[in-house]
Amino acid sequence: MGTAGFLVLLLSSSFLFEGNCLDDSGQKSESSELCPSDIESVLRQMSAALSAQQVEIRHLQEGIRHLQEENKHLLLENQATRTEVVSLQTEVVSLQTEVVSLQTEVVSLQTEVVSLQTEVVSLQTEVDSLQTEVVSLQTEVDSLQNNDKAQEAALERLQTSSSVTEHKVEALTHDKTVRQVAFSTALVESGGGQWFGPYSTDTTLVYKHVVTNTGNAYNPHTGIFTAPVRGVYHFHLHIFEDFGSYSSRVSLVKNGSKMVIANEYDSSGNGSASNSMSVLLEAGDVVYAVLWSSYRIYDNTNHFNTFSGHLLFTV
Ligand SMILES: *[C@@H]1O[C@H](CO)[C@@H](O)[C@H](O)[C@H]1NC(C)=O
Ligand SMILES: *[C@@H]1O[C@H](CO)[C@@H](O)[C@H](O)[C@H]1NC(C)=O
Repeated sequence: MGTAGFLVLLLSSSFLFEGNCLDDSGQKSESSELCPSDIESVLRQMSAALSAQQVEIRHLQEGIRHLQEENKHLLLENQATRTEVVSLQTEVVSLQTEVVSLQTEVVSLQTEVVSLQTEVVSLQTEVDSLQTEVVSLQTEVDSLQNNDKAQEAALERLQTSSSVTEHKVEALTHDKTVRQVAFSTALVESGGGQWFGPYSTDTTLVYKHVVTNTGNAYNPHTGIFTAPVRGVYHFHLHIFEDFGSYSSRVSLVKNGSKMVIANEYDSSGNGSASNSMSVLLEAGDVVYAVLWSSYRIYDNTNHFNTFSGHLLFTV
């Protein structure tokens, strides 16, 4: 407290104690003057109060210093806290951003999960269908394997049958070749006309002029036809005689047996005769024409005398 304050206090004290002074009789004085004892007492009181106040003031000053210091600390702390708060706010904003981004990511992952689940369901369906297909294929494979065994057996049978067929084909090919049998011949091939006979014995006629000899079964050097295959053959014979002083007689002979005869006699002149036969021959059997002994025929390059034959069919 300053000097001016103290004086004010002093003046107000004197005013306060106005009229409280006791006179000698112990009566309260009505005068306005101050009693000296009062003043002293007041001064003492004031002094005591002053020093108490001074102590208090020191205390208060100290308290203020403390408070100021504390305030400083608090300010610093506050500043630090603010900084921290700002940093925390920044962090919060960043975390919020991160949270939003994570939420977005979560949504996207959920979508992906849903899509994957759908895909899994679809794959499961596909797997089921493939398993069904595998089972069906297995059944088919089993059936094919069974079939395979059957086919192997069938193949073996076919192979056997095929070799049989091959033989048959070979035989048929041979048959076809030998089936083409046909010949047509006449006695005289070249030069002038001539008589054959009369001879003392039956004589095989050799027809030298070969018109056709398919299959070469007729031999133009011997006059003999040899059957190449078992079958029915047809033969035809034609004979001619000129200036009729002789009879004519020619037989078709099979393996030494006279089968049919062409016979002719005309005393007035030219005469001719024919005969033919269909006969079953074994392969190797022979057929030829025989002029009987003492008979005669005539031929020239006009080919009056002919010997023909062909295979009708095999049997
Ligand atoms: C047949 O007879 C006649 C006369 O009768 C003769 O002129 C002729 O040359 C004979 N021969 C033939 C092949 O016609
Ligand atoms: C017919 O004659 C031929 C040739 O001489 C002979 O190979 C064949 O065995 C004879 N056939 C018969 C049925 O006698």
